Amino acid sequence: MTRKPSLLLLAGALLATAAGAADTDAVVQAWPARRPLRDAALEARVEAALKTLSLRQKIGQMTQPEIGAITPDEVREYAIGTVLNGGGGWPGQDRAATPAQWRALSEQFQAAALQATPGIPLLWGTDAVHGHNNVRGATLFPHNIALGATRDADLVRDIGRATARAVRASGLHWAFAPTLAVVQDIRWGRTYESFGADPALVKRLGQASVEGLQEGMKDGRGVLATAKHYIADGGTRRGIDQGVSPATPAELAQVHGAGYLGALDAGVLTVMASFSSWTDSAGHVEHGKMHGNRLLMTGVLKDRLAFDGLIVSDWDGIGQVPGCTVDDCPAAINAGIDVVMVPLHWKPFIANTVKAVEQGRIPIARVDDAVRRILRVKLSLAATTPVPATVEALQAPELARRAVRESLVLLKHSPGLLPLKPTARVLVVGPAADSLAHQSGGWSVTWQGRDTSNVDYPQGTTLLAALRQRLGATRVSYDADGSQSDPKDFDAVIAVLAETPYAEGEGDVRITENLRHSRRHPQDEAVLQRVSGRGAPVVTLLYSGRPLYVNDLANRSDAFIAAWQPGTEGAGLADLLVAPADGKPWPGFTGRLSFPWPAGPCQFSAREARPWWPVGGGLSGRETRADARPLPEPADPAPICPL
Ligand code: BGC
Ligand code: BGC
Repeated sequence: MTRKPSLLLLAGALLATAAGAADTDAVVQAWPARRPLRDAALEARVEAALKTLSLRQKIGQMTQPEIGAITPDEVREYAIGTVLNGGGGWPGQDRAATPAQWRALSEQFQAAALQATPGIPLLWGTDAVHGHNNVRGATLFPHNIALGATRDADLVRDIGRATARAVRASGLHWAFAPTLAVVQDIRWGRTYESFGADPALVKRLGQASVEGLQEGMKDGRGVLATAKHYIADGGTRRGIDQGVSPATPAELAQVHGAGYLGALDAGVLTVMASFSSWTDSAGHVEHGKMHGNRLLMTGVLKDRLAFDGLIVSDWDGIGQVPGCTVDDCPAAINAGIDVVMVPLHWKPFIANTVKAVEQGRIPIARVDDAVRRILRVKLSLAATTPVPATVEALQAPELARRAVRESLVLLKHSPGLLPLKPTARVLVVGPAADSLAHQSGGWSVTWQGRDTSNVDYPQGTTLLAALRQRLGATRVSYDADGSQSDPKDFDAVIAVLAETPYAEGEGDVRITENLRHSRRHPQDEAVLQRVSGRGAPVVTLLYSGRPLYVNDLANRSDAFIAAWQPGTEGAGLADLLVAPADGKPWPGFTGRLSFPWPAGPCQFSAREARPWWPVGGGLSGRETRADARPLPEPADPAPICPL
């Protein structure tokens, strides 16, 4: 009686192991095998440095606190290897900190680190995701979704170079960028951090971004790039941030993995783990949180793809692994995390991790492997820099202006309306026309980007200011809500509509909501109603982090422009709205969609079959025939979307 079930159990267990091994092989073999490129001299320096470290110092190297939660003295005491500043983390908690103040704090951390571990510098990482966006005065470039619309790898590489220079100017070494997500559901609040829905585009632009950021690392000009978030961060069901991504092993490699192959080709040295979970939709196996996934971090990335650099965990990400807390997680380290981002709870983390090694719950060989990777990365770049700590070094306005110009997508146009004449009189409506916060989106000075005002962007030019420069202040009237003016007095109305800035999960469109902009921002529709059909053509710009359902708004506009979140250089917008005064040719609209543009409020999917505009869509503005059909406006403007 007792033998039968145990035999069955045994047989079942054997079968499960065999099936598990087959599944595992399928996951690994979906990826191309790569061979490691080792530099013998560098490896010798790594081994020599490793030998100088005690266990406690090794764990210190693996620990990444936030700058607000650690002092230089503590960096020395704990032999800390790396620090970060989070979104809206500044030296002395001062958002107005100058590049010199950033640099001074960096030098204090560095001096302390070199006292603790001579010859082993400290690295400081930051979310430089559209320029050096946490630092006052830095040029903010359009977000990645806009760069995806340019499809211009040379531009993206140049932006990487300029961003690296800004990061170096402030004394930092490491950009947590680019995001390589291939977004499947545009409800995700991080859609704008993605170059697009096409894996080949993400691969091409991701590679260019890494090349630009890392160029000149050895002589202190380039910075470390980070391929993030590994893997399938953009594949979560219903676009839920940090959710579950169903994907077959082939989809994992070919869709979500494409950007990583490009980044590896560019020599990327760091990868950040994703908060999301993976479910194998072929084998129906729930693999759980990526931070605990040994198969994908070690089996695929480090072994199959021969990635020799380091894997950093995301903000408190270890705490989401079953059985872990934010300050204690042997499972994540055993799965392959090398540097642990423990912004606040780093002291107990160090104590708990040292204990776990002493008790054999983390093999010392794993610790040594992690530290070798950290040392290899550290010894691959110069910790000091020739870039001056000046505000000028933070800026590249002409490059950003070009990026804006190349990224706008014209979705509707009455032939002949654009460009406006340099002598045109225009009425500007919509409060976002005068808001650098709305123009810049999330990850701008602060994490969410909405708790700022124009004084936080002393370097920036709003669209309103750019139009005044371009047309002359007397020809531009500004009426934020459109209630004080008569459009008939003007040659054209320029209406600026916008999503309120957001970052990460706070930007998710929840499952009870839909993509209709007018529902989420009824005040924008009201502004447009006041000026539309009142005797002057209306040119509408939408600042958004994702495509949105705008049929009602487009029907009340004579031209409709997806302007994404263009960043600080509003002059790039004016370049396309107004003809050059000096007789130079008007550049026209060259931006083309990197996501489909929805024709309905529930069209969330990046593979939508019947969108208003498909991927690649957009007008040049030179077309001579109008598409005069009004877009359908459903009776129920805010439906409950099917699950
Ligand atoms: C984000 C990462 C970012 C990190 C550090 C996390 O919440 O997911 O993209 O690099 O914070 O700010
Ligand atoms: C973000 C950080 C941010 C923090 C604020 C994190 O999830 O990634 O950059 O500063 O939350 O609580």
